[in-house]
Amino acid sequence: MLLRWKVLACALVLGSACAAEPPRAGAAGWAAGAPLHPATDTNADPTVVEIDLIAAPARWTFADGRSIDGMAYNGSVPGPVIEAHVGDTLIVHFRNDLDEATTIHWHGIRLPNDMDGAPHSQSPVPPGGTFEYRFTLPDEGTFWYHPHANEPEQMERGLYGAIVVRGDDEPIVDAETVVVLDDLSLATDDTLAPFGGLLEMHGGREGATPIVNGLVTPTVRVRTGERQRWRIVNAGSARIYRLALPGHTFQALGSDGGPWSTPAAMDELYLAPGDRMDVVVDVGTAAGETTSLTAEPYERGHGQGVYAPIELVHLTATNDPALPLLPAIARTRAIEPLDVGGIAPTQITFNESIDAATMTVTFFVNGETYPAVTPIAATVGQTQVWDLVNMSGMIHPFHLHGFFFQVVERDGVPVDERTWEDTIELRGMEHVRIAFRPDDRAGMWMFHCHILEHVAGGMMGVMDLGR
Ligand code: C2O
Ligand code: CU
Repeated sequence: MLLRWKVLACALVLGSACAAEPPRAGAAGWAAGAPLHPATDTNADPTVVEIDLIAAPARWTFADGRSIDGMAYNGSVPGPVIEAHVGDTLIVHFRNDLDEATTIHWHGIRLPNDMDGAPHSQSPVPPGGTFEYRFTLPDEGTFWYHPHANEPEQMERGLYGAIVVRGDDEPIVDAETVVVLDDLSLATDDTLAPFGGLLEMHGGREGATPIVNGLVTPTVRVRTGERQRWRIVNAGSARIYRLALPGHTFQALGSDGGPWSTPAAMDELYLAPGDRMDVVVDVGTAAGETTSLTAEPYERGHGQGVYAPIELVHLTATNDPALPLLPAIARTRAIEPLDVGGIAPTQITFNESIDAATMTVTFFVNGETYPAVTPIAATVGQTQVWDLVNMSGMIHPFHLHGFFFQVVERDGVPVDERTWEDTIELRGMEHVRIAFRPDDRAGMWMFHCHILEHVAGGMMGVMDLGR
C-alpha cells in the first residue's frame, strides 16, 4: 500500500524522472515490526473503495505469549487501514458478529448524518445484524473508526482502525506509516483488568501497558537520514500522549482536519484521545543505535497522567550508510480564519461530580447528563461560535461530530494560527472559544468528551442542525 503511494507521488511530482531515482528506503521496517493490515478493496472502480468489515470476538495477541479476550474488526487490532483518495466513495458492508450491539462511527469524516454511526444517526446493529455505510470522503487527512456503543469496553478490547485519505499534493518521504496509540489495563494475571470502579469511571481507564499498532513496544528498523511520515492516532481511552523522540524534532504537517497552513517544527506532540497528528521525522539515529519514541508524563488533573516516561516504539537504525537528508517540506494551505464578529457565543459547560457515599460519578454538559440533554440549536450555513467552559479540574477532550472547527481563543487569548480540528484538549478550568460553519448536512450531531468513561458517564450533548 505504501509503495502504491510512493509511485503515485513520484508520478505527480517528478514525472518520468522518478523512474531513474533509486529507492532511498521504504516502510519495510514498520511493516515488519509493527504491521498493519490494509483493507481489501473489492471494487474495481478506482474512485470507489468497497470493503467488508466484521466486528467479532477475537484473541488479541499483543506480545509474544501474551493475549487477551479481545474484539476485532476483520480479526486484527487495529482493524484494517482504509486507504482512499480525496473524493472517493467509501462503501462498507458491516456485519456485527459480537454478542452485543455496536455501530461504527467514522471519526472526523464530514459525512451525512445518517452515516455517522452515532446514537442519533442509527439504531445500534444487533448481534448478527448488518449495516451498509456509504459516503464520500471529502477531505484529505488521517481519520479513524470505532464503535459508538459500550465504548469503554469495545474500544479497550480492540475495536478501532485508521483511515488515510490522500490528496493530490502529498510530500515526498521515504517511508510512511500509520501509528495507532493505545494502552491496556491488565490484571496481575495478564487478563484485562475488570471494567468500572469509581477511580476508572472518574479519571478514565489509563492502562499501564503501552500499545502501538496492537503491540507492546515494538521494535522498528529505520535507516539513518531517511524521512519517515507518521500519521498518528490516539485510540486510547483517557491518556493524553505527550510524545517525544530524543535528539529529533518533529515536522508537523497537519492534524485532525488535514494540513496546516505551513508545516511547524515541534519538539513534542500532544494528542488527546481521538486526536490525530501528521508528522515527518528525519531519522538522526546513528547506525546500530536505538532511539525510543516515548510518552512523557502529562498531568490531566486530579493526579492523573503522572508517570515515568513510557517507551512506545524502539527505532533501531540499520548499518546501511546514512542517506542524505531531504529538503524541508514547503507545503502551504490557505486557512481563512472564520469571521466571528457580531456572533453571540453559545456557552457550553462541562462539569463532573463524585459521590463517595454512593460510589458514583456523574458528568454534565450544561448541567445535564446524556441522554437527558437539551439539544443545542444551530443553523445550516451560519457560523457557530461556542464557548467551551470546563468547570472541573480535569482535562475533558472535546470532540464534535461531522464538522471541523477552528480554535479562536484559549482563556481569552486569541489563537492566530488557525487549524481545522474535530478534537481538542479542554484543560481543567479552561475556557476555549471555537467557531465552525455547518454546511448543508442537517441532523442531530453529537459532541462529547472523548475520555470513553466520561462518554459512558453522560458527558455528551447533541447539536440540532434542523432537518
Ligand atoms: Cu471518536 Cu463520538 O467519537
Ligand atoms: Cu472528560
